[in-house]
Amino acid sequence: MSDTAATARGGANIEFRQVGKPLPRIDAPGKTHGKTRYAGDYVMPDMLHAKVLRSPEASASLRRIDVSKARALPGVACVLTHEELPDRLAPTDIPGQTGRKRLDTDQQILVRERVRYHGEPLALVAADTVAIAEKALDLIEYDLEALPGVYSVEEARQPGAPVVQGTDNLVSTYKVRKGDVEAGFAAADTIVENTYHTQFIEHAFLEPEVGLAWVDENEVTNIRMSTQVIEHFRFIAEAIGVPHNKVRILGSLVGGGFGGKEDITVEIYLALLARATGRPVRLCYSREDSFFGHGKRHPFTITHRTGFTSDGKITALQVDMTTDAGAYVYLSPYVLLYATVASPGPYRVDNLHVDARAVATNNMYTSAFRGFGAAQACVAHEQQMDEAARLLEIDPLELRRRNFLRTGDLISTGVPIESAVWCDECMTQAWQALGERPADEGPIKIGRGVAAYQQSYGRITWLHDTSEAWVGVEMDGTVVVRSGVTDIGAGQVSALAQIAAELLGVNLTDVTVYNSDSATTPLAGTTTATRALYMTGNAVRLAAQAVRDRLLARAASEFHVQMHEVDMADSLVFVREDTRSAMKLTDLVATCASEGIHRSELVIFRAPFTDAIDPETGQGRVHPDYAYGAQAVEVAVDTETGEITVLKSVGAHDVGQAINPAAVEGQIEGGTSQGHGYALSEELQYREGKLVTPSFSEYLIPTAMDMPRVQSIILESRSGVGPFGAKGIGEPSLTPVAPAIANAVADAIGVRIPDLPITPEKVVKALMTVPVN
Ligand code: MOS
Repeated sequence: MSDTAATARGGANIEFRQVGKPLPRIDAPGKTHGKTRYAGDYVMPDMLHAKVLRSPEASASLRRIDVSKARALPGVACVLTHEELPDRLAPTDIPGQTGRKRLDTDQQILVRERVRYHGEPLALVAADTVAIAEKALDLIEYDLEALPGVYSVEEARQPGAPVVQGTDNLVSTYKVRKGDVEAGFAAADTIVENTYHTQFIEHAFLEPEVGLAWVDENEVTNIRMSTQVIEHFRFIAEAIGVPHNKVRILGSLVGGGFGGKEDITVEIYLALLARATGRPVRLCYSREDSFFGHGKRHPFTITHRTGFTSDGKITALQVDMTTDAGAYVYLSPYVLLYATVASPGPYRVDNLHVDARAVATNNMYTSAFRGFGAAQACVAHEQQMDEAARLLEIDPLELRRRNFLRTGDLISTGVPIESAVWCDECMTQAWQALGERPADEGPIKIGRGVAAYQQSYGRITWLHDTSEAWVGVEMDGTVVVRSGVTDIGAGQVSALAQIAAELLGVNLTDVTVYNSDSATTPLAGTTTATRALYMTGNAVRLAAQAVRDRLLARAASEFHVQMHEVDMADSLVFVREDTRSAMKLTDLVATCASEGIHRSELVIFRAPFTDAIDPETGQGRVHPDYAYGAQAVEVAVDTETGEITVLKSVGAHDVGQAINPAAVEGQIEGGTSQGHGYALSEELQYREGKLVTPSFSEYLIPTAMDMPRVQSIILESRSGVGPFGAKGIGEPSLTPVAPAIANAVADAIGVRIPDLPITPEKVVKALMTVPVN
């Protein structure tokens, strides 16, 4: 057990009244009664409807575009092409609230001369109805001359290959040089080398990209929309050429983001059309638009060469990873960095050598997706552990135990892990939860697998991440939280309410959170990178604590006791050891108000800040901290049809401290089902850059019928850097799922399929070469 860290950093044994309880989330009633308004539910008088014309070619030259017929169509208010935006560019990077300079990767908003991917926008239309807008798209005439393209990273790296980005299609590279790999391999008794592939996948949020924009009487462009990042307002302003304070983004509750609403999607189109027409404009992507309209998960090819002693200790690891960045840079450099950091997994590797690269192609651009590179790294390192276990004839769980990091060990980037590493605890409990193993029956083979992981939470430390929050108590003792945070469905807002309720001695239902308005709520940064609870939770904790301290100080003088003797609960303020000394919170608030004692606080929480890593060695701090856990899975494989049924799936995670265990379970269940799709059925297929699977009838996400009952095991080391020792669960819940399934399938059929997704076709094909006993 590495629980020394837990006692060292987890704080006192806090007795919680609100935090840690599976309370109904404050966003639950609106959702369950159908009252919650999502971005797509908003309309305005005189509203126009927008549509985007997209390129049917993946690599082409735009010779001519003629929109005169479209403009002449009755009911069409506006058609925009690159000719109307000659000096405008769209950012593809998200520095958010940080002052850091953007990556130099701004791109055309609408195609000027060169089409680089299938679906790249050629023109925008706004019309009185959706039907007229669609008709107008048909009336736009254009000539595209096909150009040679590159459709794989191998093609893109050939000398003389057509260049999509930069001078040589190399978008980003990272290296790790830690210890002495040559000596490590020389000391090995066995060297295991394998290559693993992951595929392009789609976020498949049920709510597509959607927004409504209008220009108000103060010349402010307002955009109410579904996004993870309201702080894109600055870059929208720069893209459309207005001051930052003339763009306001109002985020609605997001109907699924998973990283796909981390980049700018419909905002710039909406802003341009609303300003050009002077009328409100609504743009709601169809499902097909959504397949073309946001970046995908990076496919990776990862080779692991791992040296082991005969008793299973890792002596050296060499990793080579290549990913397809697609046609534009977007977040590829960051995703590649996360994959590099996570490449050895939650294991102690003293001798580590990593070479990683992201390569531009004429495929769809790739960007953020829940797990952000660490998920792809996990698919490789966890299959590699099972392959090594097989060769070394050591139990796969035991092999992992012999190598798990411990608190204080140096991770891949050479910095010590300071919090708890409860991989073993999580893995052991998840495995035990699988229970009795069923017997094979005829062609149906049972298999089991585990996977453990290391996933960062919080943004890269040299981005200098911050989050602001405001907490106040009203005259009737109810509590208000103001935070820019976007709620992407995980209960981000409810967690803030639960933290404020805890510290101010009220019930969760007494707290209202106003959030996600770039003009009026204190800016909280992005809801990405498993950072919202960590960053904004800490900001709310600090703000609520400041208000609490001020109220308690006033109460203490009233009761003639020391401040630490006073407590707050159930909207009462009382002396802990003297039940006769108590007053209503409302009375204390009235006293404070009459004396001018401030009943609110605005706080900024700052994440640890470091310099960037050394580019030659990859050594240095990259993230504030890491989360650890494991998944255990049991599958049944029909060796005649190749069909795989997941019988049991157990996620066990050290979340540090669950603010709301029911919300944590929700994340584990959702992450598990997303991981099942990643492992077994989901794949965006591009042929010469053209997407041939642009619907849910070709792109197969798991349905309720495909999912087993998911079991969640929540461990709490209280060792994290979030509020009350919390870590995070948003991305971690997904990361180990697909490799656990891959390991279970290999266990069932005795042969490994190293390419996700593991489809029935691949199973049958693999069994043709290796017969099952
Ligand atoms: Mo993300 S993949 O929402 O950081």
